[in-house]
Amino acid sequence: MGILLTLLPPVCAALACLPATAALQLPLTRLNFVAPAKSGLPVDSVQLFGQRGVFQLVNGSAIHGRPEAAYCLRLGVGTPRQNITAKLDTGSSDFVTAGAKTPGLDRWFDAKSSSSLVWQHQLVRTPYTTGFWEGHLATDVVSLPGPVPGPVRAAFSVAERSSGYFQAAAGAWQASVGLAFERLSNARTAAGGGNFADTLARQLGDAMSTGSPPVPFCLQLCGGDAGLGSFIRIGRANRTDMLYASVRWDWYYEVVIADIKVGQSSLGMDCKEYNMDKAILHSGVGDIRLPARVHARVAQQVGAQQPELGNRFFNGLGLLCSSDGSLEATKRLLDAFPSVTFSLVTPDNQTVDLELSPTQYLRPVVLGGSPAGNGSCFRFGIQSTSDGAILGATFLSGFLVEFDRAGRRIGFASSSCPEANSSSRVLGPRPYVAIDGPQDCAFFRADVAASTSVLRPAAVAMATVCAMCIL
Ligand SMILES: *[C@@H]1O[C@H](CO)[C@@H](O)[C@H](O)[C@H]1NC(C)=O
Ligand SMILES: *[C@@H]1O[C@H](CO)[C@@H](O)[C@H](O)[C@H]1NC(C)=O
Ligand SMILES: *[C@@H]1O[C@H](CO)[C@@H](O)[C@H](O)[C@H]1NC(C)=O
Ligand SMILES: *[C@@H]1O[C@H](CO)[C@@H](O)[C@H](O)[C@H]1NC(C)=O
Ligand SMILES: *[C@@H]1O[C@H](CO)[C@@H](O)[C@H](O)[C@H]1NC(C)=O
Ligand SMILES: *[C@@H]1O[C@H](CO)[C@@H](O)[C@H](O)[C@H]1NC(C)=O
Repeated sequence: MGILLTLLPPVCAALACLPATAALQLPLTRLNFVAPAKSGLPVDSVQLFGQRGVFQLVNGSAIHGRPEAAYCLRLGVGTPRQNITAKLDTGSSDFVTAGAKTPGLDRWFDAKSSSSLVWQHQLVRTPYTTGFWEGHLATDVVSLPGPVPGPVRAAFSVAERSSGYFQAAAGAWQASVGLAFERLSNARTAAGGGNFADTLARQLGDAMSTGSPPVPFCLQLCGGDAGLGSFIRIGRANRTDMLYASVRWDWYYEVVIADIKVGQSSLGMDCKEYNMDKAILHSGVGDIRLPARVHARVAQQVGAQQPELGNRFFNGLGLLCSSDGSLEATKRLLDAFPSVTFSLVTPDNQTVDLELSPTQYLRPVVLGGSPAGNGSCFRFGIQSTSDGAILGATFLSGFLVEFDRAGRRIGFASSSCPEANSSSRVLGPRPYVAIDGPQDCAFFRADVAASTSVLRPAAVAMATVCAMCIL
């Protein structure tokens, strides 16, 4: 009696139901896939809500890897058009596409067969902890999904050689669009090809709605299976209820976490621990990842309300399932969990509270014929890491988020996702009182500028490799 993970087939059709506004807004698709678990620590147990017993999944590894999700753009590249799926990644700054066959990859961009491609004679190499990608910079025509004009001519790297990077996607995506600050880019060009959002604004935007580069852009990531309602918008959010957190330093979207609350109670730790050695917004990572001690405290406080839940669940190795698949049973499960709130420091030294509901941090996993019958199953979407605090897609998906690079700030407003009802709230601003001033919570890095070259590869490593590692 095998238990199989039924992955929903990638549904990549452009979402025709989005309102056609004057703004440059492209639909995003959510792809669910299983990232290989290198360390041999797959999800292997299931527990029914309200019960103590844990079912071991058959052979200890029914899910051979880690259920992941990525938010993607469906792009057509080259002439004739080749369709590729590109992950949106605010944790790196390069646009790269697989350019050759790699194990596990069923599709890649064949540069030789595009008549419109122009090589830029620049080698781009991005090494990282367990692999690398290397290729040449090129420009080519790129057509866009949704009801927008196009195509544009964009600069991207064609990865002729790679190891580890694209395998992580197991065929789900073949390219990655980096949207972080220029500083993290390995392919800085004199032509300023750089950031894809700027390319779109330059070639398609009207300056009134998109601004001039570096342009602000917005992400709305929705949690449903295909991510219905998700989009990237070039330009401001056009919302009056937006509250802003400040960007501490312009490489990743680095923020300062002043407090973390489970329900109404603060974790009560020295807030420097929350930001050790950095806290970043990263759409390329599925979970929220926190320093180990902070993760342990969150698990403890959430677990205090769910005493029968064990470490396997909180460490992402076990699933929690409702007793049957009914809406009421699932609602009962979700209602039993507290909200988790992150307070971020604002540009005027106050804080804004971003309250995540359990619908957001409990991530649905589809199991076929589980011991739970047909119950809905969830993974704990807050995990631990040694790479600092990473507020991944699980965090972002609660909100409409505006990335304002020029203003060095990040705006949050409630999202308009179809399933957004019970979800997150943006509260504040409220005064922030700390012993030595508001920036006290930021972790002090001895020499940030000097460490950039060392840390740049981590942009890639976190986007993929850490999406697989289970701690
Ligand atoms: C468990 O693993 C063994 C050896 O790999 C295999 O022969 C067996 O069919 C597996 N059982 C199930 C139920 O998948
Ligand atoms: C590429 O995508 C477009 C738009 O979704 C579609 O019309 C076309 O058939 C696709 N081409 C291939 C070869 O899949
Ligand atoms: C902003 O919102 C207002 C009111 O909803 C709308 O009239 C206007 O066209 C929007 N502007 C842009 C650039 O989308
Ligand atoms: C915020 O606090 C920092 C550090 O204490 C200080 O340098 C800065 O001037 C403050 N900004 C505002 C707008 O009060
Ligand atoms: C689960 O659902 C399937 C199809 O909906 C049904 O055939 C099966 O009997 C259900 N299993 C249980 C244990 O409820
Ligand atoms: C959202 O909640 C409001 C009030 O809580 C309710 O009236 C509305 O029907 C809900 N919408 C959806 C789509 O569930």
